[in-house]
Amino acid sequence: MTVRSSFVVVANRLPVDEVTTPEGRQWRRSPGGLVTALHPVLAQHQGTWVGWAGGVGAAPEPFDLEGIRLHPVPLSAEELERYYEGQSNATIWPLYHDAVETPVYKRRWREAYRLVNARFAEAAAEVAAEGATVWVQDYQLQLVPAMLRELRPDLRIGFFLHIPFPPIELFMQMPLRAEVLRGLLGADLVGFQQRLAAQNFVRLARHLLGLRYEGQMIQVDGRQVKAGAFPISIDVAEMERMALDPNVQARAKQIRTELGDPKTVILGVDRLDYTKGIELRLKAFRELLADGKLTVPEAVMVQVATPSRERVEHYQALRVKVEREVGRINGEFGRVGVPAVHYLHQSYSRSELAALYCAADVMMVTPLRDGMNLVAKEYVATRADSGGALVLSEFAGAATELRQAFLCNPHDPDGVKDALLRAVHVDKGEARRRMRIMQRHLRTHDVGHWARSFLNELGVPEAEDE
Ligand code: ADP
Ligand code: F6P
Repeated sequence: MTVRSSFVVVANRLPVDEVTTPEGRQWRRSPGGLVTALHPVLAQHQGTWVGWAGGVGAAPEPFDLEGIRLHPVPLSAEELERYYEGQSNATIWPLYHDAVETPVYKRRWREAYRLVNARFAEAAAEVAAEGATVWVQDYQLQLVPAMLRELRPDLRIGFFLHIPFPPIELFMQMPLRAEVLRGLLGADLVGFQQRLAAQNFVRLARHLLGLRYEGQMIQVDGRQVKAGAFPISIDVAEMERMALDPNVQARAKQIRTELGDPKTVILGVDRLDYTKGIELRLKAFRELLADGKLTVPEAVMVQVATPSRERVEHYQALRVKVEREVGRINGEFGRVGVPAVHYLHQSYSRSELAALYCAADVMMVTPLRDGMNLVAKEYVATRADSGGALVLSEFAGAATELRQAFLCNPHDPDGVKDALLRAVHVDKGEARRRMRIMQRHLRTHDVGHWARSFLNELGVPEAEDE
């Protein structure tokens, strides 16, 4: 029998990982901030999360985990290739990130996107109780709000876009443009990371569909659709707790020892994605070594590049370029047993990441474009000692909030080098002052605050703390 919920989250992925234990294969809640933020609301409303469980072919039966109902949606191998790798990650992802790589347009990808979005909408319609609230997440599912409204006009529907929303000129390239826009307009509230993105959206509604708007409110078929900015954040308390854990502290020390106790550890942590500016960061480091402004082994760089979307061509090409640059730097500036760049193409546990953050004197976050960038916020939250310095691209959403970072324009190599050098040489008092201001901001703007702001605007009663 289908369990019906008064609160439903719909996202491309379910917030669970399948792990092997001595008792066999089991589901475990994944560590993401989104699920942490939504957990109280889901638990209070006997909520359901609709999403893909990973893998291809038949989906597992719906199941309960830690007070949440998980409702898996199946994807075939062909759909994975066309809907996820194709339309989501080779068309929409590059287009919405300022076309820093050329978006690829294919008819069969669009068809798969439509079909899979319809499947998610049907699943949400099936599990939502009469008058329920459904919150749809991200660029993979932009057609779902309108499809769901068609099936279930009784629902209250929210949509949040985790990535940037492009200016009109770029959005207009997309063959599916009107359908995507109408899809989003099926929601009652459409949330973005940035105020400018919300403005792009309301202007686009007028430009493409001739709709009238006042402020952030768009008139659609006698309904009102509100657009707004809701910058996402992290579980700050959890990050702070982890950083104070004696095991994490000990591991941070050990990492520095393993790196040869350098004076300056420079860190990058990103999915291996061309939007993250990994290459330009490596190049800035190489040029500073060549200029003699930094030297090995006094300064070393650690670059964690998490494997991501590995079958998409843009990502394969990026891996080759990044690995070539790492090889070049180590070839020119490393010595036996003393590389200049430690490159790690691996996933890590949350505690290992926290230890890396604690071990780093300078964190480099230099995306060419990023909706938010949670790594920047995580780094700030882990520095309970108020040590460390953050170099942050102006093109990351996080730069709107983390104004005390060493901000730089990632398109200007000299600007990046200058910001990195200033961060390396900043005096301790100044670094601490900057870090504390950013930490104060994050404590009042954590992921719980983000979820509450969005849901209040959508008219959902506040969940009591667990
Ligand atoms: P994006 O959503 O584009 O990947 P964000 O910086 O917003 O970028 O979020 C990335 C998230 O993934 C962060 O929470 C970060 O801690 C986590 N993460 C990044 N690299 C790794 C890794 N190698 N192992 C585990 N988690 C990682
Ligand atoms: O930030 C956008 C996003 O799609 C997140 O929703 C997701 O956690 C992350 O990038 C990783 O992407 P994927 O789900 O394609 O592995």
